[in-house]
Amino acid sequence: MEKKIIGLASDHAGYPLKEQVKEWLAAKGYDYIDFGTNSTDSCDYPTFAHALANAIENGEFTTGIAICGTGNGINMTLNHHKGIRSALCWQPEIAALARQHNNANVLVMPGRFIETEAAKECVTTFLDTEYEGGRHQRRIDAIPV
Ligand code: RB5
Repeated sequence: MEKKIIGLASDHAGYPLKEQVKEWLAAKGYDYIDFGTNSTDSCDYPTFAHALANAIENGEFTTGIAICGTGNGINMTLNHHKGIRSALCWQPEIAALARQHNNANVLVMPGRFIETEAAKECVTTFLDTEYEGGRHQRRIDAIPV
């Protein structure tokens, strides 16, 4: 079976956690495409968020993980894209609900405000949880403006 591809994006504040996420993905048998950034040098999160979002909207793969310091900036940027539903998560229960209720296609985490084990559980839970559909679809359909 072909490996599922996960798209990755971060700014400098999210870079260290992004590097750990790569190890967790590889251990779970996923491939990934890293849209940067590639160091802890100061940079602007929209650059990397837009690159990830464009690739998902172009159908290159379906799922992403994005990280900045608080998670807010990269999450705001991603959610400006019509094809993105990104969810800021800091504990696995929220990551599960982001999939079950929101059909989120990008997991966002706050790199400066999340413990490593919680981040790992968020990644695993997000990737392993299915969307429930049903009443949630009506709500998702009502999001676009
Ligand atoms: C970078 O200092 C920081 O502002 C950024 O990572 C993020 O937290 C913005 O929302």
